[in-house]
Amino acid sequence: MTDSVRTPPAPEFAYRDGALFAEDVSLEQLATVVGTPAYCYSQAALDRRYHEFADAFADQNAMICYAVKANGNQAVIAALARQGAGADVVSEGELRLAIAAGVPPERIVFSGVGKTRQEMAFALDSGIRQINVESAPELEVLAEVAAAKDRTATVVIRVNPDVDARTHAKITTGTAENKFGVDLAHVPEVYARAEALDGIVPVGLAVHIGSQLLELTPFRSAFTKLAELVAELRAAGHAVSRLDIGGGVGIRYGSESPPDIAGYAEIVRELLGPLGCELIVEPGRAMVGNAGVLLTRVLYVKQGVERRFIIVDAAMNDLLRPAMYDAGHAIVPLVEPAADAVYEPADVVGPICETGDSFATGRAMPPLVAEALLAICSAGAYGAVMASSYNGRLLVPEVLVHGDRFAVIRPRQGFADLLAQDSLPDWLSQEAQPAARIAAGRGSV
Ligand code: LLP
Repeated sequence: MTDSVRTPPAPEFAYRDGALFAEDVSLEQLATVVGTPAYCYSQAALDRRYHEFADAFADQNAMICYAVKANGNQAVIAALARQGAGADVVSEGELRLAIAAGVPPERIVFSGVGKTRQEMAFALDSGIRQINVESAPELEVLAEVAAAKDRTATVVIRVNPDVDARTHAKITTGTAENKFGVDLAHVPEVYARAEALDGIVPVGLAVHIGSQLLELTPFRSAFTKLAELVAELRAAGHAVSRLDIGGGVGIRYGSESPPDIAGYAEIVRELLGPLGCELIVEPGRAMVGNAGVLLTRVLYVKQGVERRFIIVDAAMNDLLRPAMYDAGHAIVPLVEPAADAVYEPADVVGPICETGDSFATGRAMPPLVAEALLAICSAGAYGAVMASSYNGRLLVPEVLVHGDRFAVIRPRQGFADLLAQDSLPDWLSQEAQPAARIAAGRGSV
């Protein structure tokens, strides 16, 4: 991360007269109404990114299926669906969210390495476009589930192309040591088996090699191997008419320069276009990542022995990415620093009792005092969806901005919700406690 990251990496979030806005909404005003921490998304940014993908693939018979795992809020899914997006889901929960948000089932694909029988049954009943099968045993179970329902499952076989995506190890998915997909050598056998099984119709292949890819070369390697495999399957007499090319295009968090969508679409055209297949693209992060920020308030500024700590009210339970993937998100004040402000290193940390609860270490930050408001940028993807109530912290709200309007699309959790999550077994209930029994006149010490 360079010192130059002083505005959020999306044009929909910009300073106006020294105050940070999301579209036409002042984030300071929004934070005053909704409180902090809070996620804030720009619908214009979502729409723009959807159209960047749709336009780039306009001449390629492609369906853009938004990867719901990046942000499963139904308002976010609905905003993208209204523009024409389908959905890529990985659980019955995500499938239900996508349908509820208005994605037509025939535009939904179901990925994932460990689908249960119940999830398969629900997917078949829903009439979705395809199920991406990731192993031979999964294929057998799907055939059983389909047969029991007297339904047909349209499937693509996910290939593990053994390509290093050159991204963080925890989000690399396409090497031989990863759990995903069927290795190249076994795909012909699995494809043939799929064709032989009643209730299964294989129509093509899928590939996804990782997330936050910053170069096109790994995509190039994966698509080259995919094209060879299609030729091999066709030579063996199989029809292959559909390719799901996964997601993975990276975004700018700091000083990265990720591939542009047009360049990505261009290598798809070059390497896969000649096959004449229908395409499915599954972007998650690239669609929503820079459409969101996490608003947080400075609680304290503490001068430690070696460092300045900026202690904020957001924490790793709200945005796990820095702790989990060492991710660097730009952090900017809602009040624009003066042009001559002196930036000095600071650690921006949350209140949780772990050293890993840190959003930035040694980051050049402007002068800040308690109560200052900050935006943690690029938090639209894998932010709210990965939140938890660790440390007894309440899940934070999500807000969608649309022009000069905003709406709370998920309210802040309340303490009553937190307390209601658990229930005590009868032998631990307050009633059963000696003090309570004595107080109630029903026992003695
Ligand atoms: N398709 C499949 C089969 C996937 O596994 C994924 C992401 C995507 C599409 C969407 O990938 P994207 O376009 O978002 O890169 N929590 C991590 C990211 C995990 C991604 C897992 N798979 C993070 O915060 O970096």
